Amino acid sequence: MPIQEKVLIDALEPFKGFVLSSIIFSMHRHGLDEDFRRGTTLADLVASRGGLDRARVAALVDYLVAAQVVARDSGGRLTLTALGERYGEARPWYEMMIGGYGITFLGLGDHLGEGSPPVPRVGRFVGSGSCGISMHDSIPLVRKLLAGGGRDYRLLVDLGCGSGVYLTELCRDYPEMRAVGIEPDAAAVDAAREWVAAQPTADRVRVEQAGALEWLASATDRPDLAVLAFVIHEVLGQEGEDGVRRLLTQLFEAAPDLDLVIVDIDLQSSDEAAMKHPLAQNYYAAYYLMHPFTEQRLETREWWEALFADCGLEIAASSLTDPAMDSTGMEVGWLLRRRAA
Ligand SMILES: C[S@@+](CC[C@H](N)C(=O)[O-])C[C@H]1O[C@@H](n2cnc3c(N)ncnc32)[C@H](O)[C@@H]1O
Repeated sequence: MPIQEKVLIDALEPFKGFVLSSIIFSMHRHGLDEDFRRGTTLADLVASRGGLDRARVAALVDYLVAAQVVARDSGGRLTLTALGERYGEARPWYEMMIGGYGITFLGLGDHLGEGSPPVPRVGRFVGSGSCGISMHDSIPLVRKLLAGGGRDYRLLVDLGCGSGVYLTELCRDYPEMRAVGIEPDAAAVDAAREWVAAQPTADRVRVEQAGALEWLASATDRPDLAVLAFVIHEVLGQEGEDGVRRLLTQLFEAAPDLDLVIVDIDLQSSDEAAMKHPLAQNYYAAYYLMHPFTEQRLETREWWEALFADCGLEIAASSLTDPAMDSTGMEVGWLLRRRAA
């Protein structure tokens, strides 16, 4: 018996989300939302951009109109709808989760086997999307932790700096501070250098291509502030617990008075009550999912705090994200110092 239309419509609901989120990312990536915000026509869009395939852009526009992201009036004028504006509020989330991890979600079914290699991701968009999200959640959290710590700083090292926003944001807060960004992904390094060069603090910031442990092995700088934002779980996935212990130990051996800020996500994926939170449903469920497939290992808050203590560190302060922005309690920040002898 053929499937009933109503059943088919319901069953295809997730498919609609898959394509819609991909197209939202593509629209943002090419800045087409800006064209629609100003108002344009298909002919003007193709002419002003140059080099675009008219039939493909027309198909994209028809899709966006059908999805009510763009409105088209009787004269063919295209404008961004209120829904399109609303999707734009989550722009960096689309950048990281679709631009960075879209290929990962598609590929993970082929990588379930024991010993499977990691599933690819697009490092540039992971770094830039994550930094865009951080402007909303983690950077305010870092600022809060540092303000409570009451110190001034001269040299920041941001390990896994992505597209570099912590470097420039924190340099604005501490006018005497210089900053070094460490980032292994070549495309993210390019993005970070491009971002830094366009900021007023450019002369105080440099970006180097290296992994955190690799950089530490040859570093001559002695930072008084270090940031590991959503990076310690990368090192845990790549180098195991020993690698994380080496990283923490070497950081404080090189700079015993260091203030180290770590921000990471508390592994709550198997807590069914926590996962019912609407932000967990719409975001964290997918966030938790892709980590084991991409050589990353998330751990619980308790697990990290036991490891910090075991590495001779004390928690000078800790906090969660502002609940007005994210009330899941899943994102944790710590200000760590070496425990007094
Ligand atoms: C989720 S992004 C975080 C970017 C930024 N710190 C933020 O908070 O938005 C993780 C970054 O860590 C980088 N990374 C991966 N492995 C690393 C390692 N071993 N050492 C330093 N950075 C690493 C990735 O390339 C990526 O840019």
